[in-house]
Parts: sequence; structure tokens; C-alpha cells
Amino acid sequence: MKKRRWIALLLVVVLAFAMTAIVGCTSDDPEPVAEAEVEEVVEEVAEEVEEVVEAEEVEEVEIPEVVEGGAVGNILGPDVDLSVLEGLTVGFAQMDSVNSWRIAQTDSVQSAARELGVNLIYADAAGDVAKQASDIEDMVAQGADFIIVAPLVEDGLQGALRSAMEAGVGVILVDRGIDGEAGVHYDTAVMADFIWEGQQVAEYMIEATGGVGNVVILQGTPGSSAAMDRQIGFTETIEGTDMVIIADQVANFAMPDAIEVMENILQAHGDDIDIVFAHNDDMALGAITAIRAAGLVPGEDILVGGIDSPVAAMEAILAGEQLVSVSCSPFFGPISFEIIARMIHGETIPPALQKPGTLFDINNADVNEGF
Ligand code: AHR
Repeated sequence: MKKRRWIALLLVVVLAFAMTAIVGCTSDDPEPVAEAEVEEVVEEVAEEVEEVVEAEEVEEVEIPEVVEGGAVGNILGPDVDLSVLEGLTVGFAQMDSVNSWRIAQTDSVQSAARELGVNLIYADAAGDVAKQASDIEDMVAQGADFIIVAPLVEDGLQGALRSAMEAGVGVILVDRGIDGEAGVHYDTAVMADFIWEGQQVAEYMIEATGGVGNVVILQGTPGSSAAMDRQIGFTETIEGTDMVIIADQVANFAMPDAIEVMENILQAHGDDIDIVFAHNDDMALGAITAIRAAGLVPGEDILVGGIDSPVAAMEAILAGEQLVSVSCSPFFGPISFEIIARMIHGETIPPALQKPGTLFDINNADVNEGF
């Protein structure tokens, strides 16, 4: 039994004891409190405490993993009838299109919609959370039955999402999280474990360097769950080693930004840099470009690690220029529409689903596994 449950039961016992004492004390009262009433109150309190404890315990339940399959419609469980999706209006509120991952994600949702006969309303917020909120509102106004949302940052969409849910529109969050609640702001959220991804790169770098070296971090979009959690995963893992972060800058998950930021860092620190951790591979590849341009050899002078695993990162690993990449699949189309079909069929969908990742290095890198 959990500690909180013991505390709750102890509270109930204390309350029961106190109530009994009150009954005793008021025995001279012309209308004493009936013992049965006291018991009823105690029972009610006990039930409420139990509910609170159970609700807290639900939060501790492990997030079910979603194993990605080929066909649409059999990832979460037995086959589901997808014909219910035909003619349905579904919005897809994309955050931006600044890198290969984002483009692959949009393509995945659009092609699944086409295949399933879904009328897709697509909007690209171009990296502006206020626009993404108004895109969601527009989709509700245009009669979307469901909305798939790839949130730019954790804060800023809560109002639009809550209104969509209140209007009876199903909301599926994909890829990044928000500072919100299942059942209030969205029905379910399908994401990767970003902390784990950062940890994987850090552990690999520790192994490769003996835990010694000067590190540069290229961060993704500030305020996004992907950037915050990958940062936590990496930095907490290198704590206690002799790896020192000598530069930590934002490059917005975009290759051009990463090239520019890395050029400046190279000018400031040049030969002192041993390791680059980029929150995604487009930035890792940007860093490699800048390292080469500075006359250094990526993979020899500076070890580079990233996340996502597009084809270009697989090629860089095979060429010895990138050390490691942890995959983060952009293929959210099939799983999103399968969830919608299951919701239409009245199935209960867990509030959180997790997509697994794989670590690629020189031993298993494969361009056929990239996107
Ligand atoms: O949220 C996932 C991240 O967002 C991907 O790693 C990145 O490439 C994208 O922009």
C-alpha cells in the first residue's frame, strides 16, 4: 500500500475518533447528533479521501508505448473499421515547417488523410503560437470534427484547445506537450520520451570520451517540451562527469540558424570544443557544416550527436562525421487517424501514448531507416 494511502486512512480514523468524541460531548444537547449521521459523514469523508488517493495514483500509471506499424488501423489494438473516417473533417494545426522532420510529419498526416478519404484542413503557424491558437479557432469555426495539433510551445494554446473541447471537437496532441490537462485541453497526447532521448546521447558521449570534454549545446525552440526535456535529459546525465558546457545557445531546431550560431561559437572557442549536442539532427548537420568550414574535422576534432535520425544524419554517421543519433519518428499520420477512428467507435483511448526511439551509431546506421 502506498504511503499516501496510509496517511489518508489514518486521517479517516482520526476523524472518526473526533466525531465520536463530539457525539459524546453533546449528549446533553436537546437534539444530539445521531450516531448514524456521524458514521455517514465519516464514510463520505473516507470515500472522498479514497477518490483523491486513487486520482493521484492514476498519474503514476506508466504511459503505454505505441509500437509503430506499417498499416493504418492496427497499431493500438485489434483492427478497427476505418471507413468511419471517410468524409470526416479533420484539422491539422502544424507549428512550422523549418526542418526535415516537420516536413516529414506534415507529409505523413496529409498522405494518411488522403488515403482514408478525410477532408483535411491544414494550417502552418510559421513558428507563431498566437497564430497557432487562431488556426485552431478557425478550424473549429469551419466545422472540424477532430483536430490534430502539433504544439509549438507548452504555453499559449490552452484557451483555444479548451474552447475546441467544449465545442465537442476531439483534440489529439501529437509530438510535443502543453501545460494542460487531458480531458480539458485534449483527449490524448502521442509523444516521444524527450528526456530519454537526451539521456541516450549523453550516455553515448560519456562512453565515447570517458566523460571528459568541452561541450557545446544547440537548443531547439525555447519553451517547447522537446527542447526543455532533451536539455534536462542531457545535462542531468552528464552531471558529475568532467564534461563541461562551454556554450549553450538556441538555434530553433533549424539548420540555417545552427550554421550561424555554430560559426560564432567556433570563432569564440575554436579548438577547445570536443563535443556538440544538438537538440535535433538538422542542427547537428548545421554544426557539422560549420565545423568543416572552420577547417576542423567533424567526427575527429569534434564529436557530434543529435536526435531525429533523418536520412542525412544516417549518411553523416556512415561517413564518420556524426557520432550518434537517437531516432524520433515524425510519422504521426497513421496513429492519429487510428485514434480518431477508435474514438468514433467509442473506444477509450489512454490520455498519453508514447512513441519509442532507437539509438543509431556506426554499427546500425541505415539510410533505409531514416526519413
Ligand atoms: O518535437 C519534435 C522535434 O521538433 C523534432 O526533433 C524536431 O526536429 C522538430 O522540429
